[in-house]
Amino acid sequence: MWNKEQDMQELDSMLSQLPREILQEKLNKVREIMTYYHCAMLEMETKLNVLNKQFALQNERNPIESIKTRLKSMPSIREKLIRRGIEPDIDNIESNIYDVAGVRVICSFVDDIYMLADCLCQQDDIKVIEKKDYIKAPKPNGYRSLHLIVEIPIFLHKEKRMMKVEVQLRTIAMEFWANLEHKLRYKKGLSEEQEKKIGEGLSECAEISASLDEKMYNIRNMIL
Ligand code: GTP
Ligand code: MG
Repeated sequence: MWNKEQDMQELDSMLSQLPREILQEKLNKVREIMTYYHCAMLEMETKLNVLNKQFALQNERNPIESIKTRLKSMPSIREKLIRRGIEPDIDNIESNIYDVAGVRVICSFVDDIYMLADCLCQQDDIKVIEKKDYIKAPKPNGYRSLHLIVEIPIFLHKEKRMMKVEVQLRTIAMEFWANLEHKLRYKKGLSEEQEKKIGEGLSECAEISASLDEKMYNIRNMIL
């Protein structure tokens, strides 16, 4: 069992003492798996772009405002494994870390989020692993988004490989809020009182932005 308290420096020095061939082998494995995650992320982005195009064809508007993708860095993956008490080994990544490949979909309206999520989940090459609806049930701080963990196939030279991708769907207003909240979370040196005030302010903003989403949705329905 991996000891959480084990000094990271000690681990690094152990790694640096590994024979060159073993180190090279590990490096190749990391490159390989990260390439697969990258491919899965591209596949997911394409699936979303296809849905966006087809919807636009039928409805003369795009449900997707923008798509952002990111691959988790190796240090973050390692840190997450250690935080969870799992040995930070390459072979433990796929079965434990579900957000190495991340795709964020920003929509104008809340109903577009559910429409896109349903379309994705119904595709016969996608396997839904997890669905978390923080729109219907926001986090206590006010965070809203729909999260999916899915497995999609990537087709390699001689095999098909299922890869996990985290898809976060949110409105422009939810994205605005989450980005601000994320920045403040890493702000150091705030007093307890300041933190409380900011928390309350953010919570209020989350409510206002949810009501903005609803109002815009109603107006859109009146226009259409
Ligand atoms: P982790 O994957 O370790 O984060 O734990 P989890 O699986 O319980 O996380 P969850 O599915 O709730 O959230 C995963 C991701 O959603 C995070 O990495 C963030 O990108 C985003 N997220 C979740 N909660 C918040 C929040 O309160 N604020 C912001 N800004 N982002 C959040
Ligand atoms: Mg997660």
